[in-house]
Amino acid sequence: MSTRRKFLQTSVLSSAAVLTGKQILADTIALPKPVVNTPIVISTWDFGKTANIAAWEILAQKGRAVDAVEAGVRIPEADPTNHTIGYGGYPDRDGYVTLDACIMDEFYNCGSVMALQHITHAISVARLVMEKTPHIVLAGDGALQFALANGFKKENLLTPESEKAWKEWMKKAKYEPEMNIENRLYDKDKDPMPGGPDNHDTIGMLAMDAKGNLGGACTTSGMAFKMHGRVGDSPIIGAGLYVDNEIGGATSSGVGEEVIRIVGSHLVVELMRQGLKPEAACKEAVQRIIKRNPEKSKKIQVGFVALNKKGEYGAYALQKGFTISVRSNKEESVYASKSVY
Ligand code: GLY
Repeated sequence: MSTRRKFLQTSVLSSAAVLTGKQILADTIALPKPVVNTPIVISTWDFGKTANIAAWEILAQKGRAVDAVEAGVRIPEADPTNHTIGYGGYPDRDGYVTLDACIMDEFYNCGSVMALQHITHAISVARLVMEKTPHIVLAGDGALQFALANGFKKENLLTPESEKAWKEWMKKAKYEPEMNIENRLYDKDKDPMPGGPDNHDTIGMLAMDAKGNLGGACTTSGMAFKMHGRVGDSPIIGAGLYVDNEIGGATSSGVGEEVIRIVGSHLVVELMRQGLKPEAACKEAVQRIIKRNPEKSKKIQVGFVALNKKGEYGAYALQKGFTISVRSNKEESVYASKSVY
């Protein structure tokens, strides 16, 4: 070994030893451990509160975040009064209920189904895609075939109430998606859809478990009375959901097309990687949507929620009315998100 190389090695070793000694002293005497708020689960919208309860049952027993989020979002998926997710979701303009969902765990494993028909728990099919196939996305008939082959039963997801709303919409068949603008004057009977606050309430859920690992899930019946075959942001990894176990997770609700354009949830996570807090990261993503089309952004809703590895969370939306539901050891709350308009 040359003298120069020996010298470098010796000096690196000795300075490392000195630093380690100081570090140990500092850690034991002066430096407080970072406070991590875990376990925790957050989700989009007020109905996330009920979904959080199911997720919390798993988190409180030291279960995995990915199990918690799957269990959580299955609650609105099975709720026929929720017309934007799962069973009872509003159909597309041809009368078919088609579901989009995705899930992601702490190892960047992910699974997704797009335009899946006849199965209430799209999220559980997405999880099986993640765990039982070498793929990430299955779509349409292929996704249904895969679900049936794995024991799911074929169901009719179109409830009488949703069918009635669809037939009402068909009278005008006005294709003008505008979403979740709560402060907008809205008469459900005269204007059953698209345009009302009931239109478009995807559930996105993020959790951090007792071990500090993250998981996320997102599921929706998509834009009511959409074109047959239309897929939004919710089943697209990086758009409707992204989880990076080093940094945090993000998920979205609202007009999926605008979220896809900016790869919204991945953007929020990358902004957190650069040091932004969850709310600031969500706000920046919303600003990107506005920058692209300021006029359009006034008429639509998009909201993001995010969670970082400290258990800090935040939300931001285009319009008033977006909410975030939170459950941790410290709280069980629903907060109004800040918004631009
Ligand atoms: N955000 C859900 C969708 O656009 O379908």
